[in-house]
Amino acid sequence: MRHLMSPMDFSVEELEDLMNLAEDIRIHPDNYSHVCDGRTLATCFYEPSTRTRLSFEAAMINLGGDVLGFASADSSSAAKGESVSDTIRVISSYADICAMRHPKEGAPLVASSRSKIPVINAGDGGHQHPTQTLTDLFTIRSLRGEIENLTIGLCGDLKFGRTVHSLINALVRYPKIKFMLISPPELRVPSYIRDDVLTKNGIEFEELKSLDDAMPHLDILYMTRVQRERFFNEEDYVRMKDFYILNKAKMELAKKDMMVLHPLPRVNEISVEVDDDPRAMYFTQAQYGVYIRMALIMTLLKEADRDKGGAEHA
Ligand code: NCD
Repeated sequence: MRHLMSPMDFSVEELEDLMNLAEDIRIHPDNYSHVCDGRTLATCFYEPSTRTRLSFEAAMINLGGDVLGFASADSSSAAKGESVSDTIRVISSYADICAMRHPKEGAPLVASSRSKIPVINAGDGGHQHPTQTLTDLFTIRSLRGEIENLTIGLCGDLKFGRTVHSLINALVRYPKIKFMLISPPELRVPSYIRDDVLTKNGIEFEELKSLDDAMPHLDILYMTRVQRERFFNEEDYVRMKDFYILNKAKMELAKKDMMVLHPLPRVNEISVEVDDDPRAMYFTQAQYGVYIRMALIMTLLKEADRDKGGAEHA
């Protein structure tokens, strides 16, 4: 059974196929409006979400399927102490595929080991967020034509931001990618990313504090929110929450064709005055998240059906 826990679960060639499918879905949505008739997606969200959960649900509905699920731990049996393993065993008999978000790192992985249906990690603690990365890659490829030869600035909370961790993991496999890691010293990328992913793969990167210094060099600026819910104390959060604010004045320092991405939700790190700048692509990015999730659901279900068929005929 194939699951999606990390963007590394797909090879670069498989990602290419997935993005080609997403692109075809974007152009010809009507051709796909019944491919999941009679199939059900379960969304098990133990942590808040707007875009990820609703884009998964929109994706399944656009494919003709149905959705069920819960949007918070409080409204599920987790509040009574049920384990994710038990929950997924039960959901395996209610749905054909499951997207799970959990505050604990590795919880979707534990669920996948007990599941009879494909499980998609929709964000696990400060660890990974592979479907946001698929969205980011698809947005970059669609808007720039290819994913190579880019200087990418990742800015904000690089310590707790799981979208950043997944994106770095995925991007190091593409040619001539250079990173500028812009953060306060306390919020730098963890060493398991810096040493084990960047240094190990011989990737060019620079860690810096000043967004102004990075601005003129960037092809893509990926802004992130300071992850309040992962801080140990409110004081540190308050000290760091407005460390970076992207505004019109800063945008003047950037290349004319730079692209601003943000996984959203935004708090203060991008001033609303930037929204009208043609380089601000974060709302388009959120829209592209639906197409790539449609492609992902189709792909995982197809593989699950093939495996099941194979097992039945064995
Ligand atoms: C991100 C997440 O949940 O990690 N949101 C999202 O899924 N688009 C980013 C964030 O919460 O800051």
